[in-house]
Amino acid sequence: MENNKDLFAHKSKSWDMSSRRVQNAKAIADLIVKNIEFNKEMEIMDFGAGTGLLSYFIAPFVKKIVAVDNSPSMLLEFQNKCNEFLCETEVVEKDLSSDTLDRKFDGIISSMTIHHLKDILALFHKLYDMLEDGGFIAIADLDTEDGSFHSDDTGVHHHGFDREALKVIAEDAGFRNVKFETASTISKPHREFTVFLMTANK
Ligand SMILES: C[S@@+](CC[C@H](N)C(=O)[O-])C[C@H]1O[C@@H](n2cnc3c(N)ncnc32)[C@H](O)[C@@H]1O
Repeated sequence: MENNKDLFAHKSKSWDMSSRRVQNAKAIADLIVKNIEFNKEMEIMDFGAGTGLLSYFIAPFVKKIVAVDNSPSMLLEFQNKCNEFLCETEVVEKDLSSDTLDRKFDGIISSMTIHHLKDILALFHKLYDMLEDGGFIAIADLDTEDGSFHSDDTGVHHHGFDREALKVIAEDAGFRNVKFETASTISKPHREFTVFLMTANK
């Protein structure tokens, strides 16, 4: 079963060695910090946290980050360095396409992950249920692309997202104040890809 396989096992150890990835995560984090009023009481989830590139940059602004991911190898990398993060951390191995978490967060952040989930409406319903009233989501992913971003498409269910279509899905799941901004541009040798940040509230 695809969902039971660690699709990132062969990439986890070298994930953070890509300066393009680090720069992308930093640009996303900077825009999240600009848009969200964080405080040191907040407990937030990083959905698809991976090795913690986004969590690392958000950590100084919150009390705790719960890293949720279905890849044990990526979470191992997260754990190996989380004592350097400037907040409490917890790691939860969970596949949010088939499962959920019975707890609530002040906010949910995510970078470059939702294109790996087939049913986005179902995901947004789950994220909504895992938020405290007034809680926020801050989700970054690719704008619609031609399918050439990933050299290996395994586990990729969306070639980016159309912002207007994603807004409708988020609103269908109950979110309000849905807004988009461009967070970064990823340059690959053959073309550039833009990354949006979507913010919304429960
Ligand atoms: C492209 S990586 C991004 C990692 C990290 N957010 C970053 O920006 O470096 C996508 C991450 O989402 C995780 N992921 C994919 N599908 C998932 C699912 N259904 N449930 C939980 N995590 C998932 C993968 O294991 C991987 O760590």
